[in-house]
Amino acid sequence: MNRKVSVIGSGNVGATAARSIADKELADVVVLDILEGVPQGKGLDMLEACPIEGSDSRVLGTNDYADTAGSDVVVITAGLARKPGMSRDDLLNKNAGIIRSVTAEVVKHSPDCIIVPVTNPLDAMCQVVYRASGFPRERVVGMAGVLDSARMRSFIADALNVSVENTHAFVLGGHGDTMVPLPRFSTVAGIPITQLLDPATVDAICDRTANGGAEIVKLLGTGSAYYAPGSAAVEMVEAILKDKKKILPCAVYLQGEYGVRDLFVGVPVKLGAGGAEQVIEIALEPGEQAALDKSAAAVKELVDVLGL
Ligand code: APR
Repeated sequence: MNRKVSVIGSGNVGATAARSIADKELADVVVLDILEGVPQGKGLDMLEACPIEGSDSRVLGTNDYADTAGSDVVVITAGLARKPGMSRDDLLNKNAGIIRSVTAEVVKHSPDCIIVPVTNPLDAMCQVVYRASGFPRERVVGMAGVLDSARMRSFIADALNVSVENTHAFVLGGHGDTMVPLPRFSTVAGIPITQLLDPATVDAICDRTANGGAEIVKLLGTGSAYYAPGSAAVEMVEAILKDKKKILPCAVYLQGEYGVRDLFVGVPVKLGAGGAEQVIEIALEPGEQAALDKSAAAVKELVDVLGL
């Protein structure tokens, strides 16, 4: 393979994403973690699955950033889960420290890469990566909206008993419970769901989407979602590697678009070889804009705690 993707963090999300990149033969894959043996073991296991999957991707697990050198895309999933007794701000500061040090190493070895942060709280961690990398905004593109809209699409398909392939969902804002699903731009075969479902069902779908992460956490008992987050990160990686110019909802550093400045917030972007090549702006109704403003304010609160 002549393309290379590194995945930092070989936990649930990182390993799921790495495996899918290798299965799809999108690139050679390096999986890095601070745990000794774990990335090596998982990487070797994935490599040994490749003959069965018919993939010639080479997979390597490592603790050494030198092995990530020259990556085209780096997906960052490293981080800590919240432990009992840990406040939200404690977690925020701990993960910010991890992301800062990971970013410095990534940039040292892959100065031209595109970074896809996945670690939560997503929008604030994107801001950490952006500042620590010194990269132009096109090359730091956070994974959140693809996951949120995939959740919404699966709920829409379920409510209408139609193929998920006919569904399209539009979600703006920060990756948290203040996210803004937009029903009038969410469609089935081009028809807005507002014309297909009654308002109570539409509201229930939007609500379930905004709380989609919490729903999985509650069911799992320990840990958080990883299959859909892994798939979402890989859709972004594929769009970049194949220069697809795919319009996907991603967290990008806004510079006045949607009335937001100097903050990562989820909006539709054109994703291609250059990263987030264009922010797609649409006119929002006052209620939608107010919800987006509220979501951006929630992101800003976290960024302010970090002093960024
Ligand atoms: N460098 C590299 N890896 C690290 C570092 C570090 N400094 N610190 C922690 N890690 C690794 C851990 O050793 C662990 O293997 O990050 C991995 C995180 O994996 P999990 O705990 O399984 O978490 P996961 O479910 O994969 O979620 C990762 O993605 O969706 C988000 O909210 C989620 O922020 C979380 C992240």
